[in-house]
Formats: sequence, structure tokens, C-alpha cells
Amino acid sequence: MEFKDLVQMRRSHRKFTEQEIDGDDVKTILRAGLMSPTSKGQRSWQFVVVDDKTDLEKLSDAKDLGGQFLKGAALAIVVLGDPLQNDCWVEDGSIAAISMQYQAEALGLGSCWVQMRGRGLSDGTSADTVIQGVLDIPENLHCLCILAVGHKADERKPQNEDRLKWENVHLNKF
Ligand SMILES: Cc1cc2nc3c(=O)[nH]c(=O)nc-3n(C[C@H](O)[C@H](O)[C@H](O)COP(=O)(O)O)c2cc1C
Repeated sequence: MEFKDLVQMRRSHRKFTEQEIDGDDVKTILRAGLMSPTSKGQRSWQFVVVDDKTDLEKLSDAKDLGGQFLKGAALAIVVLGDPLQNDCWVEDGSIAAISMQYQAEALGLGSCWVQMRGRGLSDGTSADTVIQGVLDIPENLHCLCILAVGHKADERKPQNEDRLKWENVHLNKF
């Protein structure tokens, strides 16, 4: 598939079948993240791949809203960075995450970004605290997002070419 078609086909998928993801596909997805560009070539992100059902369920409760479907994913990829070590940890993590999402799509798999940075529970517990506890993550590493990945259980329409916000694009001057 040409890249211009891939970007049109990629949509967020939140419903997945029970089918596991082939090990080679998991590696190919991670490879895309590991090949992504980083500030100063630091490549300081860390990724935790989670396929343990109990832990997936716990991760789905790391914030109040918007992440419950993680428990139905075959796999979660937890994207981490160290803000004290890398002032571009958000940018580096974001680029790695979307690279992995496009690779997942290219393999016919569905994925969705679940925001964790700045999120948490209504009792004031941060998502970071929950995630660090569940996955034994050192305190200096913060979670940007968790990617839910799996075989698609729903169909989504490709992006509508007619709804692209071309008005947000400016030529030469704003
Ligand atoms: C920074 C960011 C945070 C997001 N957080 C969540 C989230 O917490 N839960 C969720 O279900 N989707 C989340 N999404 C997915 C968006 O809702 C989705 O990309 C958007 O609605 C556009 O739909 P599409 O991806 O199907 O084109 C997030 C996407 C981005 C880029």
C-alpha cells in the first residue's frame, strides 16, 4: 500500500478480536518505533510491551476516562521517557508512537493512542503512579501514552478526503 493510502486508511480502533498478534509483527511494529527520529539522536525512549491480561486490565484503569478498551487489546505498548534527561521526550515519544501506529496499520492491525501524560484518577492518583506500580517502571520514567494494538473487530471508514482542513494550511504568510 502506498503511504498516501496508508495515512488515509489509519483510523483509531478500540475494539479487538481475541486473536494474538504474531511475534514477527510485534517485532516489526517495535522496529518502526526504534527507527523513528529523535532529538539529538538520543533514542532515549523506553517501550514496555504488555500482553499479560491481568496487567492489561490494570492499565485500562490507570485513568478514569478513555482507556477502558485497553483490556480488550491483544497488546499494549507503553511509551516512556525521562523529562530530566530529554527535553524532547514528548516529541520523541509521540513520533515513535505514531510510527508504530502506521506500521500496525500497514500490517492490517488496529491501534489506538491512549493518552497518559497529565491524566489520572479522580482521587488525584496520576496515571504514571498506577502504570509505574503495575509494570515496575523506575520513577524517573514517565508514561506519554499507551498504544492499544490488536486485530480489528470493527470497521472504520477511511479518512474523508473532503473533510481535510486545508483552510489550516497557509502559504508563505499566515
Ligand atoms: C495525543 C492524543 C491523545 C489521544 N488520547 C486518546 C485516549 O486517551 N483515548 C482514546 O480513545 N483515543 C485517544 N486518541 C485517539 C483520538 O481520539 C483519535 O485519533 C481522533 O479522534 C481521530 O480519530 P482517528 O484516529 O480515527 O482518525 C488520542 C489521540 C492523540 C493524538
